[in-house]
Amino acid sequence: MRLRLGDQAPNFQAKTTEGPIDFYEFLGDSWGILFSHPADYTPVCTTELGKTALLKQAFEKRNVKALALSVDPLDKHFGWKQDINETQNCEVDFPIIADEDRTIAGLYDMIHPNASATATVRSLFVIGPDKTIKLMITYPASTGRNFNEVLRVIDSLQLTAKFSVATPANWENGEDVIVVPSISTEDAEKKFPKGLNIVKPYLRYTPVPE
Ligand code: BEZ
Repeated sequence: MRLRLGDQAPNFQAKTTEGPIDFYEFLGDSWGILFSHPADYTPVCTTELGKTALLKQAFEKRNVKALALSVDPLDKHFGWKQDINETQNCEVDFPIIADEDRTIAGLYDMIHPNASATATVRSLFVIGPDKTIKLMITYPASTGRNFNEVLRVIDSLQLTAKFSVATPANWENGEDVIVVPSISTEDAEKKFPKGLNIVKPYLRYTPVPE
């Protein structure tokens, strides 16, 4: 199924290293990242899952639950998890889905046949508490994702969900944000008491509102 931003994230039941889950129940009121990797016991994937585990507190602070997926079976996941913990100095305690029949990979369009007929690519979905898709990224097997970038995007998504702001190129948390064009400058002055920096009528910055 082809998913797009704003679509409802499909629910599913899965076998995972932390026991069976229902995706929506697992998420509860949290944000979520659902990310696939090509295969267990592969080098790039080992570093990606290790990095996610090491960022546990950063994800928790943002109320984000991580959920990984590959099409390998559960027993393979368990063995590989030990290697990840050993080599990446971490404790993987988020669930890794064993999607052997590729049902979830199909729901989320994680197999790109011209890249690999059988393995999932590096897809990553950020899902909001309303269970809609807020972000999708897709990397090839040979390129590990930047999980600091994933956190940065989540910071932007959470901020823009709360206030009428957007975030500029290369924005990092704490830096000034952009007032969205749909807000008049008169309204923006009331809404953002920390003040406006009006560079052009359509390019207006304000400090982070909270
Ligand atoms: C990896 O995770 O290292 C990997 C997986 C498939 C192809 C290339 C690299």
